[in-house]
Amino acid sequence: MRTTAVLVSIAIMGLSALAHADNTELGKEVFTQVAQPSCTICHALSDAGSAGAIGPDLDELKPSRDQVINAVTQGVGVMPAFETSLSAEQIEALADYILSVTTNAN
Ligand code: HEC
Repeated sequence: MRTTAVLVSIAIMGLSALAHADNTELGKEVFTQVAQPSCTICHALSDAGSAGAIGPDLDELKPSRDQVINAVTQGVGVMPAFETSLSAEQIEALADYILSVTTNAN
């Protein structure tokens, strides 16, 4: 019984690690390709190879999860809202991706 429980929890941990990796991949795709206009036009983010300078440099800003979700959902200043063009999953994935490449706090 014990062994089974341990194996099951290892399997679950493995799966959630995989799910997380997939989400950050999706987030990168949304950042560089899916979002229109692309985040890369306006934001620098070294992992994405972008150097846009209209909005803040995300490597420097290191936005929190809430900052990403709010900015992308509602727009901020001249940044457009993506609420109608991106799904909640895509916006979540963006936040996972940006946090994973700008902080070590995960
Ligand atoms: C047309 C240019 C433009 C595009 C496209 C754009 N942004 Fe922005 N973004 C800005 C500007 C400008 C600001 C600063 C707005 C302000 O503070 O007034 C900003 C701010 C932000 C912030 C910081 C918000 C805060 O709370 O300070 C984040 C995070 C962000 N953008 C992420 C993204 C992501 C992710 C995408 C792609 C889905 C994106 N942006 C697309 C121009 C853009």
